[in-house]
Amino acid sequence: MFDQVAVVGATGAVGRIIRELLDQRNFPVGRLRFIASKRSAGSKIKFRDQEITVEELTPDVFKDIDLAIASTPDEAAAEFCPWAVAAGCIVIDESGYHRMLPDVPLVVPEVNPEAVDQHKGIIASPNCSTTQMVVAMKPLHDAARIRRVVVSTYQATSGAGVAGEADLIDGSRAALAEESYAYKAFKHPIAFNLIPQIGSPKQDGYTSEELKMVHETRKILGDESILISPTCVRVPVTNCHSESILVETERKLSAAEARELFAATPGITVVDDLGAGAYPMPSNCSGKDDVFIGRIREDLSCPNGIAFWCVSDNLRKGAATNAVQIAELLVARNAAGCKA
Ligand SMILES: NC(=O)c1ccc[n+]([C@@H]2O[C@H](COP(=O)([O-])OP(=O)(O)OC[C@H]3O[C@@H](n4cnc5c(N)ncnc54)[C@H](OP(=O)(O)O)[C@@H]3O)[C@@H](O)[C@H]2O)c1
Repeated sequence: MFDQVAVVGATGAVGRIIRELLDQRNFPVGRLRFIASKRSAGSKIKFRDQEITVEELTPDVFKDIDLAIASTPDEAAAEFCPWAVAAGCIVIDESGYHRMLPDVPLVVPEVNPEAVDQHKGIIASPNCSTTQMVVAMKPLHDAARIRRVVVSTYQATSGAGVAGEADLIDGSRAALAEESYAYKAFKHPIAFNLIPQIGSPKQDGYTSEELKMVHETRKILGDESILISPTCVRVPVTNCHSESILVETERKLSAAEARELFAATPGITVVDDLGAGAYPMPSNCSGKDDVFIGRIREDLSCPNGIAFWCVSDNLRKGAATNAVQIAELLVARNAAGCKA
């Protein structure tokens, strides 16, 4: 058990769910602390029967903290993680800043739990669109070796934090009232629209979000040879990312075999009955921790292709649940005498 645990970014969209999960999953902790920016310092947040005062993120705050579960913007993570590690605190970081650093493990507990043992103070949690995709890929990769993936994402506005959540609701109200609205998280209206850009422009016409899906997937699966073609799109859905995924495997998998592999994997729920209109949708996956898979079929365009539809709550498995599972893994490995 960790004596003092901090939720850094406790006032954010992911931080809110981390707080909920620590309570619901009875995470063992002596003293729980909430940390955010100067803007929120001094405000009070209820946790069980206590009111916890939010502290400001400063170099000194980590003095007695053993574990920090952090969800702040990249710039804040880049600055504070060295303070925390120097104070002897382990950080589970949701931001994108540390994910691809060679000495930082990038962990999805269902996929590469052993990687946590390599940490040197920081453990990164992947990008939300990557996490659900690698959970889905893992059983197929183990059984038939994935060579190539074509993925299109349909990403919810909560993926852009509290400001993204508000933009969809307030922007939609304004659009219906034929009023103007100044979007904060998005550079185009998201109400009644789709935006085929998430993140900044990078090389060869791809965006930073799309390249995260390529590089993070290879790092987590430990296979640099997997070819990945991603297109990331923001959609007017409040919560849950959806992905249309086509994988090409070395050995042919039938749809029935793929369905069985998914169904046998902890963390995956199969909802797949097209005739009955049963498949995962944001409306039936929001607030749940699993990765949901449906529309499983053999691809019409390539002999070893399996196509499927994958939905997961980006604030949960895409962020908070994955981070709390990593924390639970650390507690379990600690108890088993492994490196903390
Ligand atoms: N949303 C998702 O689905 C998702 C999924 C995976 C990963 N992530 C990553 O998780 C991180 C947080 O995302 P979010 O969606 O929760 O964003 P958010 O709703 O905007 O929350 C950001 C949090 O960080 C705090 N913060 C901002 N700047 C800070 C600073 N300079 N010093 C200290 N604290 C600061 C904020 O505190 P104040 O309230 O005081 O401003 C708030 O608690 C991001 O790196 C994001 O990429 C998000």
